[in-house]
Amino acid sequence: KPIVLSGAQPSGQLTIGNYLGALRQWDQMQDAYDCLYCIVDLHAITVRQDPAALRSASLDSLALYLACGIDPARSAVFMQSHVPEHSQLAWVLNCYTQFGELSRMTQFKDKSERHNNNINAGLFTYPVLMAADILLYQANQVPVGHDQKQHLELARDVAMRFNTAHGDIFTVPEPFIAPVGARVMSLQEPTKKMSKSDENPWNFVGLLEDPKMISKKFKKAMTDSQDPPRVYFDLEQKPGVANLLSILSGVTGKSIDALVAEYEGKMYGHLKADVADAVIALLEPVQRKFTEIRQDQTTMEQVMRAGAAAARSRAAATLAKVNEAVGFVLP
Ligand code: AQP
Repeated sequence: KPIVLSGAQPSGQLTIGNYLGALRQWDQMQDAYDCLYCIVDLHAITVRQDPAALRSASLDSLALYLACGIDPARSAVFMQSHVPEHSQLAWVLNCYTQFGELSRMTQFKDKSERHNNNINAGLFTYPVLMAADILLYQANQVPVGHDQKQHLELARDVAMRFNTAHGDIFTVPEPFIAPVGARVMSLQEPTKKMSKSDENPWNFVGLLEDPKMISKKFKKAMTDSQDPPRVYFDLEQKPGVANLLSILSGVTGKSIDALVAEYEGKMYGHLKADVADAVIALLEPVQRKFTEIRQDQTTMEQVMRAGAAAARSRAAATLAKVNEAVGFVLP
């Protein structure tokens, strides 16, 4: 089976953006692919985290992965920091990545504007660690949202460069981008993407949010002042309405065209209420399962340990090849 690797940062509560852009695909890929899903805690500390909050967000993420259908019997689920090979390979790959390449990464530019009091080296080399995550497992496919496409391109370039220098060590990964839901936008600022670490909580909907709060957030979502208001899909002129339509399409599986026809002559409030209801219905079983799993410490620990052990043995095999290829004396 082709190998799939993906992960999310425990930098806050996973959002419906992470779900539609990533987790849902992860679940669907489990039968046809050999999947590894990690909680990328090493990535999360590129932005300052409160230690207790990071620990609890990491455990919440693990329980959410399982609640969203990730099945530890079929996929390896693990904490990135439990597999030290990620950091070890990242160091080697740092030496095969150019400063200029990293300087062109748009996420670095965005994040260094948002966190301009802490533009640390880890934030800059974040894509190298991500390349290590992927290349360690010889992943063929990497399901990512649109925002991560540039990082994946870099991982491909680094893999090819390393292979050119040292022979066929790495599989060159392909992106796997979900056709719908690949880019869920912020509710208040629909021209930027929805992010779990956004400081304005009205911009995102977390997977664990209370249904009343979800309704309020969609009710307050930014639309536009077209007079009379019309529901149709126009990313440029009507990004708020387009985002609501995309979310509804992502959740219900109905096409945008079908939705536009359905909302002809209806008010924005109508669309907002329906999006909220659809999201609440989608999350109800996820939240129920989450509560069950999160308090079952034995299962949480078992999953984490087994996942890390499975991941580690595979990661170690790649790292040994890399160490040999670059000329390190093997221990
Ligand atoms: N808004 C989004 N729409 C669709 N997909 C998204 N993803 C993230 N945001 C959206 C996808 O979710 C996966 C996990 O992302 P991540 O946690 O590793 O990092 P991120 O892309 O930086 O996500 P956030 O939520 O924006 O986190 P913060 O706020 O910490 O930066 C990835 O596959 C991503 O594409």
